[in-house]
Amino acid sequence: MIDLSINFAGIKAPNPFWLASAPPTNSGYQIMKAFEAGWGGAVWKTLGVPVINVSSRYGALNYRDTRMSGFTNIELISDRTLSANLREIEEVKKYFPNHALVVSLMVETRKEWNQIIRDVENAGADGIELNFGCPHGMCERGMGSAVGQEPAVLKTIVEWVMDAARIPVITKLTPNISNIEDPGLAAVQGGTNAISLINTFKSIIGIDLDSFAPYPSVDGKGTNGGYCGPAVKPIALNMVRQLAQHPDIAGTPISGIGGIETWRDVVEYILLGATSVQVCTAVMHYGFGIVREMDSGLRRFMEERGFETIYDFAGKALPNVVEWKDLNLKHKVVASINPGKCIGCQLCYIACEDGAHQAIALSGDPNNRVPEIIDENCVGCNLCSLVCPVEACITMEKRDPGTEQITWAELSEADQIPASFDDPRAGGNDHFVPEPAKALRKR
Ligand SMILES: Cc1cc2nc3c(=O)[nH]c(=O)nc-3n(C[C@H](O)[C@H](O)[C@H](O)COP(=O)(O)O)c2cc1C
Ligand code: SF4
Ligand code: SF4
Repeated sequence: MIDLSINFAGIKAPNPFWLASAPPTNSGYQIMKAFEAGWGGAVWKTLGVPVINVSSRYGALNYRDTRMSGFTNIELISDRTLSANLREIEEVKKYFPNHALVVSLMVETRKEWNQIIRDVENAGADGIELNFGCPHGMCERGMGSAVGQEPAVLKTIVEWVMDAARIPVITKLTPNISNIEDPGLAAVQGGTNAISLINTFKSIIGIDLDSFAPYPSVDGKGTNGGYCGPAVKPIALNMVRQLAQHPDIAGTPISGIGGIETWRDVVEYILLGATSVQVCTAVMHYGFGIVREMDSGLRRFMEERGFETIYDFAGKALPNVVEWKDLNLKHKVVASINPGKCIGCQLCYIACEDGAHQAIALSGDPNNRVPEIIDENCVGCNLCSLVCPVEACITMEKRDPGTEQITWAELSEADQIPASFDDPRAGGNDHFVPEPAKALRKR
């Protein structure tokens, strides 16, 4: 029997699908609609110091046919009155007592923190999320990512909040930092109950080639925005992994955020140690209904593998994420083309010839456009299989017997690593490389 419910640092929710603090959580109306649709929790759009927003505010990276593969915004925190927000928080909790309603906060002074924490607790919030992530606007006023980028300041504010709060506290981190472990550790040392990440990346999404203004344009001018959406998922996944593997942070619940759109994304975050996830861009793109696919996909994944709860597989990928020096240097794969599937586009040939290792040959016969892999030249880099437009047409086949294992770490230990620039033990020495003159057109 599948049970998707979670207890996230004391915040209970019927499932791990939460809305991130953003436009979809700007009002009680939206959050109630989302809960009706199947979301198990929501982080209210950040409440705090008064702001004024600009118009326009959003920009997108449209990659080929995919709209909004990356998304940016220069929006600030909630511009609605605190009293209206508090009244609606209270109302949502009345209708949905068993859903997770976390309220995101961003203020400046200790006095303001104490006051606003009291306000949202009185309104019935289940938890608080500290927005130390906004990389635009608010950071110019000493809040948001300005705090997230200064671990010592972050720790102090978390301590203030922990002193004042009677409900669980989640610290939301900015990815605009060279090592995410620093603010992660500071949050834990400050006493936070949980961590969420990531907020958005400082970025410029593009420039209008006529007006020379960055997007989104506000009367001919722009500013750096916060980047999110599918394009940021790989970076967010690694940051979640880093925190989940850190000996002093592991054990602190993590809410994974960044580019989540489908049940697969959800599973990946959970496998890397998150026990709730938050979604913004995908909901802004497709609406609250996407949770149905997440729910059914996650249930099916769990059923097929015999997992009953989220906690049965949370973090299961972590032991497989090792340092490069611990990878098996004896493992060998080679590309293999399935001629029955090949459509003869020859994209693989171009990619390998110009961008990899000259390990694919053309037949030379105009009636046969299926390329051939030159096994002995193939280093097993994967590139051809990644560019091939036909699913499973190029597969990577294991060629080592699986009996040998040696890592860079072991070689170092045995004093067997290449020691000079010309050391014959260097890895590339036995790979085929054409003579330079072969590149010249026949004259
Ligand atoms: C338009 C917009 C407004 C946002 N406002 C907030 C906010 O008020 N507080 C906050 O903590 N994060 C805010 N975020 C960041 C999101 O909560 C989330 O961390 C980020 O978008 C990454 O998730 P995604 O890739 O699913 O969009 C905002 C994001 C967007 C796109
Ligand atoms: S990219 Fe794929 S489909 Fe195109 S020629 Fe190569 S193997 Fe065939
Ligand atoms: S795996 Fe890499 S080296 Fe091998 S054929 Fe494909 S692109 Fe070339």
